Amino acid sequence: MRGSGPLEGTVAIEGAKNSVLKLMAASLICDGRFVLRNVPRIVDVEIMSDLLTSMGATVRRTEDHVLTIDVGDDITPEAPYELVERMRASIVVLGALLARNGYARVALPGGDNFGPRPIDMHIAGLEALGVRFDAAHGYIEARCDNLVGTRVVLEFPSVGATENLLMAAVRAKGTTTIDNAAREPEIADLCAFLTRMGARIVGGGTSTIEIEGVDELAPVDHTVIPDRIEAGTFLAAVGVAGGEVTLQGARADHMDMLIRKLGEMGMRVSPSSDGLWVQAKGRLDAVDVSTLPYPGIATDYKPFFVAMLAVAEGVGIVTENLFSGRFRYVDELVRMGADIRTEGHHAVVRGRPRLSGAPVRAPDIRAGAALVIAALAADGETVVSDASHIARGYEDFAGKLRSVGADVT
Ligand code: EPU
Repeated sequence: MRGSGPLEGTVAIEGAKNSVLKLMAASLICDGRFVLRNVPRIVDVEIMSDLLTSMGATVRRTEDHVLTIDVGDDITPEAPYELVERMRASIVVLGALLARNGYARVALPGGDNFGPRPIDMHIAGLEALGVRFDAAHGYIEARCDNLVGTRVVLEFPSVGATENLLMAAVRAKGTTTIDNAAREPEIADLCAFLTRMGARIVGGGTSTIEIEGVDELAPVDHTVIPDRIEAGTFLAAVGVAGGEVTLQGARADHMDMLIRKLGEMGMRVSPSSDGLWVQAKGRLDAVDVSTLPYPGIATDYKPFFVAMLAVAEGVGIVTENLFSGRFRYVDELVRMGADIRTEGHHAVVRGRPRLSGAPVRAPDIRAGAALVIAALAADGETVVSDASHIARGYEDFAGKLRSVGADVT
């Protein structure tokens, strides 16, 4: 790809990857036909489909963005290593399988590009609900006679732990309270999905969620919320390349902090009748950014900020508070001429007017997208290898950028 801009036009924002994967897992809770709408065409959805299929469910794309999941009474409650290794989010089948039949065997996810990502909070929370765990041969086996509601206080508002607990608690006896729960919009979407199935949940999307267990749940038809991270990616693309773009379907109320920060940098972002309108003129101003659990600035946005700051006016400090080792792509940006120093959890980014196209490697989904964004402000050609990472979380990323005028194939 080559330096491009200004970007002009409309981009459609797909359904949220980090919601749909959990909703697919939640379908394992009861038998019947689930219909999910606004499902993006991305590789992670295929991996989750493979996982559900390996357990005995039938997953079909019945229309372009519609997924139908048929769950029968012959589900094998096991998540094999080959699939968990391909996608760490597979761990959320744990809570769903326990709710279904009190047993699950799930391969332990390894560390990945973001450094170690333990599941101790998932396990401690489920143990409090009465689940017993054994680990052997790289698998954990979870079993319980009865799930029993209780109060769980999470040490940290972990997205995955909150989701596993929610899915188990909907079938527990009595009331479960999750304190210090994650508040991400994707959690609220999962609560809406479970509630539609017949669960009794109060407080989804807040830090205290109360779940009263029920005996029976039924399959549902549900439309996935828009992907705030995909939307944030295109906002950053406009920030780097300049221009005026409408993000069709994006929800401003899921991106308050991000929109405020982009405003401080000199961008104009406002809700429009069909989504979000964004405009950027000239170089952005540098700001400091710190990642936090929702409603803070998402860790997933961080590589986009680093890319924007690399060509902004001034110096910005980016601080990572969620994952260790999430700065690997910085070396790649430096190869493109960016002036970035990292020190522990911080990156100090000194903006330059332009970057310089170079061959670079995408280390993961978001960092890969950030390299593409940076290339919009680079002279000459940039080749991003390992770009398959990007397809795990973005539907037709290059095509969408092309449709607003970027020179990318
Ligand atoms: N953590 C623990 N113990 C646990 C669980 C989490 O120490 O039992 C730590 C993690 O190591 C991490 C922090 O807590 O340092 C936050 O982890 P969290 O559980 O909140 O994250 P996650 O559920 O594993 C989801 C998203 C990520 C996103 C994070 C943070 C999915 C599939 N993944 O991960 O998204 O960065 O929340 O918001 O929903 C992506 O989309 O590319 C992506 C990585």
